[in-house]
Amino acid sequence: MENIFKGALIAQKYALSRDVYPPGLAKIIMQFLYKHCDANPATLKHSKMVDVACGGGQSTRILSKHFDEVLAFDISENQIKLANANKPSNVKYGVASADKFPCDDASVDLVSCAEAVHFLNWENFLKETNRVLKPKGCLALFGYWMPTVIPLHVEGIERKQMAGVGSSIVRDFKLRGGYTDWVMEAFSSDYRMFYDLLPWASKEHNLTSKSDLTWSLTQFMYYAESLPNYQSCLARLKKDARRKNPDVSEEELKTLDFGDEMRRDVKAAWGVAEKNDDEILMKVEFPIPLVLACREKP
Ligand SMILES: C[S@@+](CC[C@H](N)C(=O)[O-])C[C@H]1O[C@@H](n2cnc3c(N)ncnc32)[C@H](O)[C@@H]1O
Repeated sequence: MENIFKGALIAQKYALSRDVYPPGLAKIIMQFLYKHCDANPATLKHSKMVDVACGGGQSTRILSKHFDEVLAFDISENQIKLANANKPSNVKYGVASADKFPCDDASVDLVSCAEAVHFLNWENFLKETNRVLKPKGCLALFGYWMPTVIPLHVEGIERKQMAGVGSSIVRDFKLRGGYTDWVMEAFSSDYRMFYDLLPWASKEHNLTSKSDLTWSLTQFMYYAESLPNYQSCLARLKKDARRKNPDVSEEELKTLDFGDEMRRDVKAAWGVAEKNDDEILMKVEFPIPLVLACREKP
């Protein structure tokens, strides 16, 4: 799948909608690390973490305050530009590929990779993680997938029914672009696939975290439009239209954008067709699957 995050506009939409991780997530990760490296915040000296495929720093920011030194990298220059605009002082952002981490052997306490490992070459990622981790270093993989979308303008039983309608519109829409089998398996297994693939004995699969977001429909659409399958599906529809009619106008191509259809469906289902997108508020709950593992070698 093409890396859509290299585009400046998508990186911006991503930045406006993807600070989804709850504060409790970092706590779970740090407790696992302290337990496995027989340390605590006071004894873990000169601690270092690496955030692989860090995007605009969404995942880096929730963990960075627990470490002395943080290196976070991504293959997209535009994502790193946005990350640098909001940089904690102990963090260094850089452009690099996850096929070769820009770090020394056995130098890192924690490797994290959020909402990204399913897009990477797993063998290379694991080889590099193994190489850079200290003997008792840990790995944290997390992500998010299908949200429950609950409208905030209605009360009682109706809200529950409407949440079902809203969530299923999102689900149908999300599957439309066609993720690869690998990505589908990663998410439909709640990242258990990566838990099973990890060759280390000390590992955990945790499903207790979820996002707690209030979004307008405008923000929700930034999220949707920065999904790789949204963009690949739209590109395919436009390509087909151009092939059928080389003179097709930009206006006609615009009508292929199924985001408008989704907006209309959600508004109609929630009985707010007349409201503008900024006024329509929703609670968005993403379950956040988390896989933790410790390298634990003598
Ligand atoms: C969905 S974003 C996740 C960003 C961030 N970690 C977060 O939690 O929101 C996926 C990121 O993976 C990056 N990416 C994709 N393939 C990559 C590769 N081979 N090496 C490094 N980064 C990659 C993309 O550029 C994108 O920024």
